[in-house]
Amino acid sequence: MSKNILVSGGAGYIGSHTVLQLLLGGYKTVVVDNLDNSSEISISKVRELAGSFSTNLSFHKVDLRDRPALEKLFSKTKFDSVIHFAGLKAVGESVQKPLLYYDNNLIGTINLLEVMAAHGCKNLVFSSSATVYGWPKEVPCTEEFPLEATNPYGRTKLFIEEICRDIHRSDPEWKIILLRYFNPVGAHPSGKIGEDPRGIPNNLMPFVQQVAVGRRPALTVYGTDYSTKDGTGVRDYIHVVDLADGHIAAVRKLEDPKIGCEVYNLGTGKGTSVLEMVAAFEKASGKKIPLVMAGRRPGDAAIVYASTEKAERELNWNAKYGIDEMCRDQWIWASQNPYGYGSPDSTN
Ligand code: NAD
Ligand code: UFG
Repeated sequence: MSKNILVSGGAGYIGSHTVLQLLLGGYKTVVVDNLDNSSEISISKVRELAGSFSTNLSFHKVDLRDRPALEKLFSKTKFDSVIHFAGLKAVGESVQKPLLYYDNNLIGTINLLEVMAAHGCKNLVFSSSATVYGWPKEVPCTEEFPLEATNPYGRTKLFIEEICRDIHRSDPEWKIILLRYFNPVGAHPSGKIGEDPRGIPNNLMPFVQQVAVGRRPALTVYGTDYSTKDGTGVRDYIHVVDLADGHIAAVRKLEDPKIGCEVYNLGTGKGTSVLEMVAAFEKASGKKIPLVMAGRRPGDAAIVYASTEKAERELNWNAKYGIDEMCRDQWIWASQNPYGYGSPDSTN
C-alpha cells in the first residue's frame, strides 16, 4: 500500500518540487496551503508533470491556523507522515512584523502538531534553515554548531526546532527530522515549476532572474569588502530538485525504528560568491546582468556553507547538481515564465 503524506505549504517553491518527487516516487500526497505566497497554478503544473501519478494528488486551500479545517482533513484521511513547509520566510518583513511571523509560523505549527498527535500521526519532516547557525564562526557548518537567531524569522525556526525536541522528549513515539536548508535555487528542468516571489525579491537568484527578463534594471550587490575570494558574500546554493529529493530520503528515514528527533543539513558543501553566481547565470542565459555595487546588507553573514557528511551518511542522499545546472534550470523557468505563474499586470 502506498504511503499517504500530508504536505503543508505544498503549493510553494520548495513544496511544489517536493510534491512532484513524492508523486513520482509512488506516494499519495495531500497538499494544504493557504496560497498566501503561492498560486494554485503550481499544483496544476505538478499534476501535468506527474502524468498518471497525478491521481494520487489532492489539494486543499487551508490555513494551518484554521484548526477545524485541519481536524476535518485528519479525520477523513490517515496520514503516515507530514512534511511541513508552510510558513512565512522574508527576513526583512519579519523584522517589521514580528507578530505576523510568530502568529503564522508558530501558531500554525502548534496547531498542526496538536492535530497530528490527536490523530496518532507522529512522523514529521520540518523545513528548518541554515539561519539557525546565525553568523557562523567557522565553516563548514556542522549540525552540532551552536544555534542562534538573528531575526524574528530565524527565531521561529529555532523555536520550532526546540518545540520538536521537547515533544520528542515527552513522547518518544514522535519521529522528527529537522532539515536545515542552505540556499535553494534553480527550478524543475521542464521549466514548468519554479520560484515566483510576490513583490520585490529578497533573495539573490530570483532578483537576478528578474533582471535577466527585463523586469528590473540591475542587481544590487550587497557588500564587496567581505574577507572572501572576491569580497562578496559566499553561500551554499543547492538545486531545488536535489533539495526535494532530500525530503524523499527523510520520509524514508522516518521508517527507521531507531530515529528520534534528528537534524540534517541539506546543502552541497560548496561555497559560491555573489559574483561567481552572477557569472554562472550570465553564461547559462547569455544575458548581461548589470551590477550596482553597494554596502553590506544588515544582518548578512560573510560565508555560510554546509557540512553535508551527516546527510550523506545517514540519509544516503547527496546533491547531484552544481551551479551551472542550477543556473541553466533557473533560466529555462525564467525565460518560459518571465512573470512566474502570473502575468505582467498581476505582479510588480
Ligand atoms: P514559499 O513561500 O514558496 O512556500 C511556503 C508556502 O506556505 C506558500 O505556498 C504559502 O502560501 C504557504 N503558507 C504560509 N503560511 C501558511 C499557513 N499559515 N497555512 C497554510 N499555508 C501557508 O517558500 P519556500 O521557499 O518554498 O519555503 C518553504 C519552507 O522552507 C518555509 O518554511 C521556509 O521558511 C523554509 N526555508 C526556505 C528557504 C529558501 O531560501 N527558500 C531557506 C530555508 C528554509
Ligand atoms: N545578495 C545581493 N543582492 C541581492 C540579494 C542578495 O548581493 O539583491 C547577496 C547577499 O548579500 C548574500 C547572497 O547574495 O551574500 C545570498 O543572499 P540571499 O538573500 O539569497 O540568501 P541568504 O543566505 O542571505 O538568506 C537565505 C534565506 C534565509 C535563510 C538563509 C539560510 O533568505 O531565509 O538563506 O538558509 F535563512
